[in-house]
Amino acid sequence: MANGSRKETTHGRDWETPPSSFVSGANVTAGDRDALRETGWPSCWKTAAELLDWHRSFDAVLDDDGSTRWFPGGRLNASHNCIDRYVANGRGDETALIWEGKLGETRTYTYHQLRDEVNAFAAALRNLGVGEDDVVTLYMPMVPELPIAMLACARIGAPHSVVFAGFSANALATRLAGADSEYLVTCDGYYRRGTALHLKSMADNACLSVEQDVEQIVVNRLGDDGEIGDARSYADLVADHDGVEIDPVERDSDDSLFLIYTSGTTGEPTLVEHTTGGYLSHVAWTSHAVFDLKPEDTHWCSADVGWITGHSYAVYGPLALGATTILYEGTPDHPEKNRLWEVIERNEVDVFYTAPTSIRAFMKWGSEYPEQHDLSSLRLLGTVGEPIDETAWRWYREHVGGGECPIVDTWWQTETGGVVLSTLPGADRMRPGAVGRELPGIGATVVNEVGEEVPPRESGRLVLTRPWPGMARSLCEDAGWGVRRTSRADGQWQYDTGDNAVRDEDGYLHLLGRADDVLNVSGRRLSTAEIESAIVGVDGVAEAAVVGGTDTMKGSKVHAFVSPESNVAGDEVLRTRVQSAVESAIGSIAAPDSVTFTPSLPKTRSGKVVRRYLKAIANGEDLGDTSALRNPEVVGELESLLNE
Ligand code: WTA
Repeated sequence: MANGSRKETTHGRDWETPPSSFVSGANVTAGDRDALRETGWPSCWKTAAELLDWHRSFDAVLDDDGSTRWFPGGRLNASHNCIDRYVANGRGDETALIWEGKLGETRTYTYHQLRDEVNAFAAALRNLGVGEDDVVTLYMPMVPELPIAMLACARIGAPHSVVFAGFSANALATRLAGADSEYLVTCDGYYRRGTALHLKSMADNACLSVEQDVEQIVVNRLGDDGEIGDARSYADLVADHDGVEIDPVERDSDDSLFLIYTSGTTGEPTLVEHTTGGYLSHVAWTSHAVFDLKPEDTHWCSADVGWITGHSYAVYGPLALGATTILYEGTPDHPEKNRLWEVIERNEVDVFYTAPTSIRAFMKWGSEYPEQHDLSSLRLLGTVGEPIDETAWRWYREHVGGGECPIVDTWWQTETGGVVLSTLPGADRMRPGAVGRELPGIGATVVNEVGEEVPPRESGRLVLTRPWPGMARSLCEDAGWGVRRTSRADGQWQYDTGDNAVRDEDGYLHLLGRADDVLNVSGRRLSTAEIESAIVGVDGVAEAAVVGGTDTMKGSKVHAFVSPESNVAGDEVLRTRVQSAVESAIGSIAAPDSVTFTPSLPKTRSGKVVRRYLKAIANGEDLGDTSALRNPEVVGELESLLNE
């Protein structure tokens, strides 16, 4: 192959190697990787913290009193690290942020301009009374004011809590109430395929249903069609504070940088808290080592900033390294299916990071779309969110990466803050379909039900065996925020990820999907319990169980089995009410793809719903022995219903 790419095979599986031109310029080489592993844990994470500017340097890498606090004694500010230090070192005129709007408009901010805008908004927030540690909720689509507001919060030490704009008013209310947040920055609305969606009315409904008074600030995105009522206008506030400078507040390494909600195994969303020093070190180092980002690079992480991926790799990671980040407001196929490739060509993107669900859609649309564009600026590709199959991996490399770009398949979670399993593109070989090994400093293993490590090629639960800097604070404190922490018989620290995995003979990990009741729909994390609790709230519904059905495009689809009350018909009217109850409780992303009515759900003799059977039915799989059920006949009825 050209440029030094080679193919090798061990244990009957292929290896792919990065081109030598990539390896020779990589931030982290095989030698660096080995040196890090040799330094040992936790000292090797010092390298990560050294990528940041500390107002006061830390006394140790990890607190040795067992409290798992990273970089104790250190003081820093994330907004200073992501902006000011680059203005100060002569990079002020370099581009920090490029916004690609839905209607074809673009906006570019240099580091200097970003600093001015962040300062003005930080001053405005402070004037409104936002103090250190007050939580500011951001319910916004992909507009530049979203990262600006995040960085303004960070500047004054106010943790932000970003709520995905596709969530409903009820979902926003739960998150406002849970974080006891008295400030909400939102938008009048946004455009979806040319149609205006009004976000402000959702924000109003949410504010009405929480106990605290909420001060609203509204960004105008709909032009003359937008309404802000008696809320404050973002543009007016920024204009009023133009030119004001706010000194970045020094935060303790362990102080909160932001809160984010994610789906767990319960009916309530799980609140996860990320720290300033640990989180920022982790995302800066992984941007450097895994995404190989250099200050002169343009990085495009296509995830919405409403999810952790956008926080870490569209905002904090690339800006902490002084690179250029792209914020893309649209959908990939509007106005045309070549939109993403056009954006890559026009902005000469170096690193592109997206989800397998999108790659499968690109494949379906056909290679003629990327082929219309010059994508030769791309140096590295990444994927995240769900396992990527070998076919999609090869298509991505061939048609987007010109057959040459290394691909990093990065495994991580909201709770891990940043990537924990991946190859290092300048140091490791790649194996399509496997994420690679744990990064230097990370401990990972695959265990059986009793917590014993299983041999290679045997599947089990993926657990992380040591703390890492980007870990959610609730993991350190075991604060009862629903984040799992299990311990083995020997009492060793262990974090149960909820994913199943298998290690191959070469040590590479292959992810097999969630082992718990969390679904992964189009790379978005949803809880079956949360969807069920919305459905059972519908009048006339007695019981409901939600399972994931396999879907070649979306990863999982949401399949609801609903048992109506005895005098209620399972008809179209009820079906519509079920769908809209989920939309209003969570958002349309969680609406069931299919609703099957059944007189009863399969249960054990003790009355527990056996989802395993429902899952098998939804996926047309073999059920095995159902005799242990209290009502085995229902399984047969359901199968025949679905085969109709
Ligand atoms: C899944 C997103 C396979 C996994 C960053 C995890 C993956 C969940 C991968 C976290 C990958 C993420 N291969 N599965 N490369 N990356 N996942 O919290 O099931 O939204 O537990 O964080 O996504 O989803 P979350």
